Amino acid sequence: MMSIRNSLSPDIELVPFADMRDNAALKVAYLSWLNDMDVVRSIASPVLLAPKGPEFIEDSFKRFTCPECRGFFIRFALDNAFIGTAKLDGISEYTRSAWDGIMIGDRRYHGRGLAPKVYRLLLAYAFNVLSLRRVNSGCNERNIPMIKTFQHIGYTLEGRLRQADYIDGEYSDHLYFGILSEEFRAANDVELMTEER
Ligand SMILES: CC(C)(COP(=O)(O)OP(=O)(O)OC[C@H]1O[C@@H](n2cnc3c(N)ncnc32)[C@H](O)[C@@H]1OP(=O)(O)O)[C@@H](O)C(=O)NCCC(=O)NCCS
Repeated sequence: MMSIRNSLSPDIELVPFADMRDNAALKVAYLSWLNDMDVVRSIASPVLLAPKGPEFIEDSFKRFTCPECRGFFIRFALDNAFIGTAKLDGISEYTRSAWDGIMIGDRRYHGRGLAPKVYRLLLAYAFNVLSLRRVNSGCNERNIPMIKTFQHIGYTLEGRLRQADYIDGEYSDHLYFGILSEEFRAANDVELMTEER
């Protein structure tokens, strides 16, 4: 199993989807996260609102291991537990950019300040390993923990699609954020380590 760590905050690791294909227990946990409405509601994606079965997990593995995507499971090393997923999607070698995403699927790990640690790793990988210039992201206007995470990391709010999301019978705005490699480096200390075990 390959894992990526920041030696400055070793409690969080990213493990590629490609290394976890045969982990049946993890697939069961992943499906439970995706069927937890309190987790997926704030992602504001209609696809995620319907009940999902094991075929959804297999499709996710295909998607997150294709050439223009890097999907990772988030591992909380102190508990030896997988707690969610993070990804870079739509990786373009032409514009040297990608879209990011995070889901801390195990709600016991929400509100513990882990999202910025995951983002530091994910973006260090994007900028230092993949040599991207820019990472794009977005979230619903009511997803305060996500907005605060973007602020902590140094993203700029670049756009607002008015009433583009529909959550629990109400329309709300979708916000778009972006960060450039030099902005990330100026605001974050990361010592990236890759480990094989
Ligand atoms: C969004 C998500 C990644 C945030 O991760 P997290 O580790 O729980 O977030 P944190 O604990 O770092 O909290 C971030 C900040 O939001 C604050 N916060 C959390 N809930 C809040 C609320 N309801 N109101 C105000 N502030 C809140 C925290 O106090 C923290 O502020 P601080 O950094 O200034 O102390 C995580 O909750 C998650 O995966 N949610 C489900 C999926 C999702 O929404 N993904 C993103 C889709 S775009």
